[in-house]
Amino acid sequence: MYQRILVTGATGFLGHHIVPALRRAFPAADLIAVGRRQCDLLQPGAADRLLADTRPDAVVHLAARSGGIEDNRLRPADYFYENLTINTATFHAAFRAGVRKFLTLMGGCSYPAKAVSPIGEDQMWNGFPQMESAGYSVAKKVILVQSWAYRVQHGFNSVVLIPGNVYGEYDNFNLTQAHVIPALIRKYIEARDRGDADIVAWGTGRPTRDFVYAGDVAATIPWFLANYDSSEPVNISSGTRISIRELAETVARVVGFHGVIRWDTSKPDGQMDKIFDVTRLRSLGLSCPTPLEEGLRRTVAWFEQARHEGTVRL
Ligand SMILES: NC(=O)c1ccc[n+]([C@@H]2O[C@H](COP(=O)([O-])OP(=O)(O)OC[C@H]3O[C@@H](n4cnc5c(N)ncnc54)[C@H](OP(=O)(O)O)[C@@H]3O)[C@@H](O)[C@H]2O)c1
Repeated sequence: MYQRILVTGATGFLGHHIVPALRRAFPAADLIAVGRRQCDLLQPGAADRLLADTRPDAVVHLAARSGGIEDNRLRPADYFYENLTINTATFHAAFRAGVRKFLTLMGGCSYPAKAVSPIGEDQMWNGFPQMESAGYSVAKKVILVQSWAYRVQHGFNSVVLIPGNVYGEYDNFNLTQAHVIPALIRKYIEARDRGDADIVAWGTGRPTRDFVYAGDVAATIPWFLANYDSSEPVNISSGTRISIRELAETVARVVGFHGVIRWDTSKPDGQMDKIFDVTRLRSLGLSCPTPLEEGLRRTVAWFEQARHEGTVRL
């Protein structure tokens, strides 16, 4: 149904999962997968040139400046400027080039800090996101308005999906940039390898979250590319609630860390409950079924191998 599919951000974490999923779903399509080295979308005119050179009929836009909470705190201007520029320019270039379908992802952190769990898509504009990552998350959510505006004025077909807390192979394990699961995996493996008797975890361990395996997110993308023609965003998550304490214990078990986990309750817990509502996803006949322990086993196996080969982002 598509002859040429352009994937930006193909060299990143989710690109490593989504490109093979697209290849399986659209075997006859010419898949053009690019990272920043092939095209720096921050450069003036770069997005227009990329679209003119590749002439895709569908674009899966994953290119973004993404990172963990610490890096977001240190560089909010970079996160804001780069994401707003990359998204606005790439989306507009795709429209001008006559692309039939544009699909992109934004993050669950764009929801208001005071969103009530389970967080449904209709809560997106009910308040300001968490301040620490607002540069990133406000810039990212602007694309929802761009998607709606171009559909109304030009009939341009674009889709914005909202994966929750994604984890899996090819993630970033650099501790200043990593999300919670890769950071925990790395710390627990290093503690195991040093033979530490204990490890300190922050807070009470009582807050709850839901996590989604990257392979499950990737598996939904071809369906949205083929079947979903709406600017109403859709949460992509497991919808399964797990406490941070259970998560830490599961990571310890999976990596084989046999020491004691000590909870430093003088440290803040953060938001107590943050779960994504997946009713809309399920109403489309989709789900993210990989159990957390199974996804963690795959991620840990990949990390151990990639660390050995020196191919992981540390
Ligand atoms: N990871 C998550 O938990 C999560 C959750 C929800 C939504 N998302 C969204 O999913 C998308 C992909 O995220 P990810 O985790 O795969 O990110 P990632 O691992 O950081 O990969 C980012 C990708 O964007 C490319 N890129 C960065 N700056 C660029 C630029 N100036 N020009 C062109 N390409 C550039 C990178 O290229 P190089 O490799 O060459 O640097 C890389 O391919 C993003 O839109 C992100 O916001 C991610």
